Amino acid sequence: MVSLKKPNLSVNIGSLNLKNPVMVASGTFGYGSEFKDLVDLKKLGAMVTKTITLKPRQGNLPPRTCETPCGMLNSIGLENPGIDKFINEKLPFLQKLGIPLIVSIAAEETPEEFDILINKLEGCPTVAAIELNISCPNVQKDKLIAQDPQGTFALVSAARKLTRKCLITKLSPNVTSIGEIALAAQNAGSDAVALINTLGGMCIDVHKRTPKLGAWVGGLSGPAIRPVAVKMVWEAHNKIKIPIIGMGGIMDAESALEFLIAGATAVSVGTANFINPRASLEIICGLEKYMADNRIQNLNSIIGKLDICKD
Ligand SMILES: Cc1cc2nc3c(=O)[nH]c(=O)nc-3n(C[C@H](O)[C@H](O)[C@H](O)COP(=O)(O)O)c2cc1C
Repeated sequence: MVSLKKPNLSVNIGSLNLKNPVMVASGTFGYGSEFKDLVDLKKLGAMVTKTITLKPRQGNLPPRTCETPCGMLNSIGLENPGIDKFINEKLPFLQKLGIPLIVSIAAEETPEEFDILINKLEGCPTVAAIELNISCPNVQKDKLIAQDPQGTFALVSAARKLTRKCLITKLSPNVTSIGEIALAAQNAGSDAVALINTLGGMCIDVHKRTPKLGAWVGGLSGPAIRPVAVKMVWEAHNKIKIPIIGMGGIMDAESALEFLIAGATAVSVGTANFINPRASLEIICGLEKYMADNRIQNLNSIIGKLDICKD
């Protein structure tokens, strides 16, 4: 019997070449070092940092998380040490990992903060990509940039002029048409889009008649949001040509495959890290097994290959 070659799991996201499509989602894996004794970080396709802002942020009032049916609600509020401390104290560990490093950034007050953040990251050659978080539901704003196609286009265009690094735009599910926003990001020069961020949600303690979160409302994540996320990846895939990094409730290889078949080139594992820190590595093994079982040599051959003619 002819034995198949080892399956090829490598994918490209703009200028990034990932040895496998599995990364960890922003905000659910700290700055990597927190997981170093539990996970062989070098095996990941890429690492995405917690979102960094210009100044340090203390985040929202506790409680910041609560469990929900098949998921969780969080209102961390972008707690982070600020860009300078990140570069001085967190980056040295991350740059030794030898995997593509994606730094997530956000503005607190004005879009111009993105310019300063990008200029600072331009001085860090080991940062392979910048993820523009324009979709965080946990900061006090009437409207997210990711809820407005013109705003998305303007912000990504300005960022594109400042860097030749791979530029990823993180999108919100709290929109009417994800395809429209994804197209705006593509037309503005984004190399890829990442979706979805958390869905706005609220939990109430009926005995106290108070919100369960200190910030009252938060973002829903985990398996509860997976069907929403898969549909949004599929819709975006039908609208844009740039790669999609899919996420939302990925727990195992089968759920990762749903995203790949719907059109995601890579996937991010978020809430699953809190239940099983090794989930992402197990997903990589599960993808290899699926490929071997189905005699798939190259993972790219199933990306976006949803067969909608079958029942
Ligand atoms: C506790 C927590 C913190 C998060 N922090 C961030 C963040 O800082 N930046 C960001 O872009 N997304 C953040 N997210 C959203 C995740 O990156 C991801 O988009 C979302 O949770 C959906 O994936 P999941 O269902 O696998 O968790 C956070 C999610 C959780 C649960």
